[in-house]
Amino acid sequence: MELAPGHVLVRTAAPDVLGPRALAHGWLTLDEERRAERIRHARGRHAFAAARGLLRSLLAEGLGGEPAAIPLSVEESGRPFLDGDGDVRISVTHTEGLVACAVGRVSALGVDAERQDRRPRSLALARRYFAPAEVRALESLPEDGVHRHFLALWTCKEALGKALGQGVGPVLGNPVFALGPGDRVEGGAPEYRHELHALASGHWLAIAARGAQSVVLAAFEGASAEPSSDRSAGG
Ligand SMILES: CC(C)(COP(=O)(O)OP(=O)(O)OC[C@H]1O[C@@H](n2cnc3c(N)ncnc32)[C@H](O)[C@@H]1OP(=O)(O)O)[C@@H](O)C(=O)NCCC(=O)NCCS
Repeated sequence: MELAPGHVLVRTAAPDVLGPRALAHGWLTLDEERRAERIRHARGRHAFAAARGLLRSLLAEGLGGEPAAIPLSVEESGRPFLDGDGDVRISVTHTEGLVACAVGRVSALGVDAERQDRRPRSLALARRYFAPAEVRALESLPEDGVHRHFLALWTCKEALGKALGQGVGPVLGNPVFALGPGDRVEGGAPEYRHELHALASGHWLAIAARGAQSVVLAAFEGASAEPSSDRSAGG
């Protein structure tokens, strides 16, 4: 699939399936393989190998070439970038049971995922950091809906923070996000396409892409974390 201007590809996978496969297929550089070998716990090793392998295979698919030969670097902020092609943006997220990567010919791109069954101090965090309209929306919900809704907003904010290369902190209170009917994400930053997907694997997946015309989300074949979206929204 060619990576045309304005297009974004997003791929998800189960780290414990894709990690060993990425190592076996030689998708990682020698340095990355050595880094993976030094991670003692299998879960961490698989997560690292899966994230790098998925990103490299997705870039190889969109741009051509071998996954291990794709020149990747990291900014001082921690944001990864593709060396030598300033038109392509990349973003990575990993959480328990899921790894996801996004690549696109857009001017800014971020992806984030969170398990929906997490139980953070949702209302307290929202009252401290979120915009008043977001807090009012959360306060109007029955208790069991609060965490799910909070995590959806949080995931959208993390994706935007990554697109900006700043992390979530600067965007916690502005811009304002809302969850519309069918979990459709509303609001967000001007010029951005925001998408939120409730994956069958039990994760929220959010994408923030400035200037995107299309976003194509797919599970990595044979290494799915059952991510076919049961409800999705496009901005
Ligand atoms: C940096 C940050 C965006 C990472 O998000 P996360 O949900 O912790 O972890 P994820 O797995 O989703 O993302 C990790 C990936 O983000 C990428 N990343 C790291 N820093 C980044 C940045 N500044 N911009 C964009 N992407 C970044 C990296 O690719 C990293 O994966 P890698 O190290 O394997 O390459 C996040 O830690 C953050 O926003 N930190 C600030 C914390 C904060 O403000 N907290 C407020 C308290 S309420």
